Amino acid sequence: MVPFSVPVVSQMNGSAAGDAPSVFHSLPTAAMLRLTEHTQQAIRAVLAPGDAVIDATAGNGHDTVFLAQLVGETGRVFAFDVQEEAIARTASRLETATVRNVVLCQCSHADMKDIIPLEYHGRIGAVMFNLGYLPGGDKTRTTTSVGSLAGVRAAVALLRRGGIVTVLAYPGHPGGAEETAAVEAFLRQLNPLSYDVTIPSDPITTVPRLSLVVRKQ
Ligand SMILES: C[S@@+](CC[C@H](N)C(=O)[O-])C[C@H]1O[C@@H](n2cnc3c(N)ncnc32)[C@H](O)[C@@H]1O
Repeated sequence: MVPFSVPVVSQMNGSAAGDAPSVFHSLPTAAMLRLTEHTQQAIRAVLAPGDAVIDATAGNGHDTVFLAQLVGETGRVFAFDVQEEAIARTASRLETATVRNVVLCQCSHADMKDIIPLEYHGRIGAVMFNLGYLPGGDKTRTTTSVGSLAGVRAAVALLRRGGIVTVLAYPGHPGGAEETAAVEAFLRQLNPLSYDVTIPSDPITTVPRLSLVVRKQ
C-alpha cells in the first residue's frame, strides 16, 4: 500500500472556524474564532519554514492549508483523514491554493507512527487535531476516544524539541465528552520534565476546549 496517495502543492489561506460543526453553533462564533486563533498563534510561535508537520484531521482542508503556508515550499505537511470525502475536499482546497508541499493519507491518525516515514520521527514541528465530525458531512462519522487517544499518543512521540501538539476537542456531540476526557487524562500524565502541557482547568461541559503540549528543549 502507498499510504500517501495525493501529493499536492501549496501557498494558502483559510480558517476552520468558518465551518465549525453545526452542533456547536450554540457556542458564539467569536468564542470559536478565539479558539482557532489561539491554536494558530501557538503553532506560529514554534514553526519555521522548512518544518515537517501533521494535520491529524484534514476535514475540509482549512488547517492543512494553514500549515502548508507556514512551513512553505521547503516544508512538508502530512494530512490524515479516514473519509474519502474529506480527502477530496482537502485536495481540492490545496489545488485551488496551488499548494505543493502536502501529502494526503486516507487513513487513521491512530496509525500515524507507522505511516510517517522514519526520517521524520522526532522531527515533527506541529501536529493539529481538530476533533469531531466533518462539517457539511456525515455527523455520525466522528473521531473516537480510542482513535484520538492513539493518535495523540503517537503525535507526542513524533515531536522534535520545541514542537507542539494542539487538540481542539468538542465535548458537545455524542461520545465527545468521553473522548475529550480520555485525551486530557493522557496529556495530564505526561512527564512535566519533558513536556509543557496546557489543559483547560474548568470542568468538561459542551463547550469546545483547546489543549496544548510542547516538547521541552
Ligand atoms: C472537525 S473535522 C476537521 C476539520 C479540519 N481540520 C478543517 O480544517 O476543515 C474532523 C475530521 O476528523 C476526521 N476523522 C475522524 N476519525 C479520524 C481518524 N481516526 N483519523 C483521521 N481523521 C479522522 C473526520 O472524518 C473529519 O473530517
